[in-house]
Amino acid sequence: MGVKTTNLDSYLEERRQQVQEALRECLPPADSYPPVIHQAMYYSLFAGGKRLRPILVLAAGEAVGSPREPLLPAACAVELIHTYSLIHDDLPTMDNDDYRRGRPTCHRVYGEAIALLAGDALLTQAFAVLSRVPADIPPERVLQAMGELAVAAGSQGLIGGQVVDMEAEGQPVTVTTVDYIHSHKTGSLIRACLRLGGLLGGAGEEQLALLTRYGEALGLAFQITDDILDITGDFSRMGKQGGGDVARGKATYPACLGLATSRQKAAELCQEAEDCARALGPAATPLALLAGFVLKRQE
Ligand code: IPE
Ligand code: IPE
Ligand code: MG
Ligand code: MG
Ligand code: MG
Repeated sequence: MGVKTTNLDSYLEERRQQVQEALRECLPPADSYPPVIHQAMYYSLFAGGKRLRPILVLAAGEAVGSPREPLLPAACAVELIHTYSLIHDDLPTMDNDDYRRGRPTCHRVYGEAIALLAGDALLTQAFAVLSRVPADIPPERVLQAMGELAVAAGSQGLIGGQVVDMEAEGQPVTVTTVDYIHSHKTGSLIRACLRLGGLLGGAGEEQLALLTRYGEALGLAFQITDDILDITGDFSRMGKQGGGDVARGKATYPACLGLATSRQKAAELCQEAEDCARALGPAATPLALLAGFVLKRQE
């Protein structure tokens, strides 16, 4: 069923809660041996966070007529990978950030070695969790989903984007390079959310193609808005410090094209995503509204 714009907040809140409950089942007990690693994993996973990626998995499934329950393992898996990527992204050897999700970063609390290992453990746990998909989902779809998630997180996806992000620091860059960085470091995982929801939700070929295009457009738009918020955003809403991109000479959309053009580009991409959602029919109304949410977000 579709949702009205006014209902988007309650739509997001309800799904956030369901994801939150499902995530609680994803890690070993916080006090299991060796306790420090589990505490660090809990610390970062339950520090808050919009849970946008798991909600996208559920909304993609919903768009093709799937109930939510069978998609929860995939939804949780992407959030585990996302959280790992944030822990590593914040390390002194990468972005060297002190705050994340409104709290001191994992390495500030647990030290760099444990933060590194907590990230590793969240990444591997993601695939253990994904393997818990219900038995009635066709195994070839599950295998494809696992393979795609691994590639999206790897050197041709998120990691590739992070590598070029680092290499580009302080260098003059073209929009082509920034597009590569953004569509990989952030876009790959968001695209995978849409594809996993579709694949495991029983999407046909055309539906999957529309979900994929939606994911690619939204993924790039999401990182452009992140770049904009690094300049214009508010610490109390973002839960992380702004200004770091300029300070580190990061390759961002605003650095390349200015704020106004960046906003314009984000709006075009969100419109493209919304159009793909509309083409999927009324069950994809939440996806259409989520595109508007990404464009206007302040956190
Ligand atoms: C932050 O992602 C990192 C990027 C890829 C831009 P989010 O803005 O989704 O962070 P949380 O999950 O809400 O903390
Ligand atoms: C993060 O990009 C991308 C990944 C974590 C893969 P940023 O470095 O811009 O994210 P923030 O601003 O620290 O959240
Ligand atoms: Mg970074
Ligand atoms: Mg960062
Ligand atoms: Mg950023």
